Amino acid sequence: MSTEIPFRCISLRLRTTRGKTSNEDVTTATLQVRDLMALLLIVGSGTQIARDLTIEACECINESNVTFSLFSDLAELRRICPTATILEISQLYRDCVRDDENYSRIVTKVGEALDSHQKVCLVLPGDSLFGVSLVHLLKQAYPLAHVRSIPGISSFCHMSHGLGRDALEHGTLLVDANRLLLYRYALDARNDVFVYHVCSVATSIVNFTNPSELNRWDLLQEYLLQYYPAGHQVHLVHAPTSADDSFHSKPVLLGTLQSYVKDVNYATTLFIPGIKSAVMDTKYLALLLRQSQADAFE
Ligand SMILES: C[S@@+](CC[C@H](N)C(=O)[O-])C[C@H]1O[C@@H](n2cnc3c(N)ncnc32)[C@H](O)[C@@H]1O
Repeated sequence: MSTEIPFRCISLRLRTTRGKTSNEDVTTATLQVRDLMALLLIVGSGTQIARDLTIEACECINESNVTFSLFSDLAELRRICPTATILEISQLYRDCVRDDENYSRIVTKVGEALDSHQKVCLVLPGDSLFGVSLVHLLKQAYPLAHVRSIPGISSFCHMSHGLGRDALEHGTLLVDANRLLLYRYALDARNDVFVYHVCSVATSIVNFTNPSELNRWDLLQEYLLQYYPAGHQVHLVHAPTSADDSFHSKPVLLGTLQSYVKDVNYATTLFIPGIKSAVMDTKYLALLLRQSQADAFE
């Protein structure tokens, strides 16, 4: 870390235990120490910045010495935070190369900024901790920096609203396509399932311009058919990504899924509605009813 970084006061909490277990025996002292630690704020910008950017996200951007924008609308960010220094780094994420190569370029770029700045902000689409390996990689790469992730409105929120689906009502599984096939996760056809990252099934190469290339939807279809009938209707869902974009969802029959791989893009998620079932645990139902009858008499 560069010696040019100005010292910053941070507060260190010192805990000393005097007694055995009583809370009163634990005293907390606060000590001011000078520290060189840089702060990295990883901010989720929502899928439509103009509508989704939170007040906390704006504060992080405005307070940072430099902000990097990855796949977020730079013009919108600069319009909302006009005094902030915001730089585009989407060009570091290249087409047709492995995901981890792209990530390491971004990690290096952020590290260079942490060497010369006290507060660095990285803006990512949607929620910053949802389906983004970068947070974990940055924490690993810069253990001396303080890394904090700030929530944003994710594609999942937008899809739930667009589909009019309450995630708890049906019980919902959110799963990455490659992990699903790799670990052979068991599915319960009664639950709703959102399969993420269907733009790169069975490949670690991200192909922006032609995501249907190398993309093995045949394997995904074959796996899902173990749990659902071929006639089950599933949906290719797209939540809005910019102010002039809108929600849309394309219904297709599971048995024909692989023939729609040409329709996939980076923002596509596969939604599989759960199949309604009347099967339930009758003893448990009796418990629930007994309680509600008791409540009625109170
Ligand atoms: C790397 S993950 C990032 C998710 C993002 N952090 C979020 O909170 O939505 C990318 C995946 O999110 C899903 N996704 C992203 N944008 C979407 C959109 N506008 N509509 C539907 N799904 C989207 C797709 O499954 C895509 O492959």
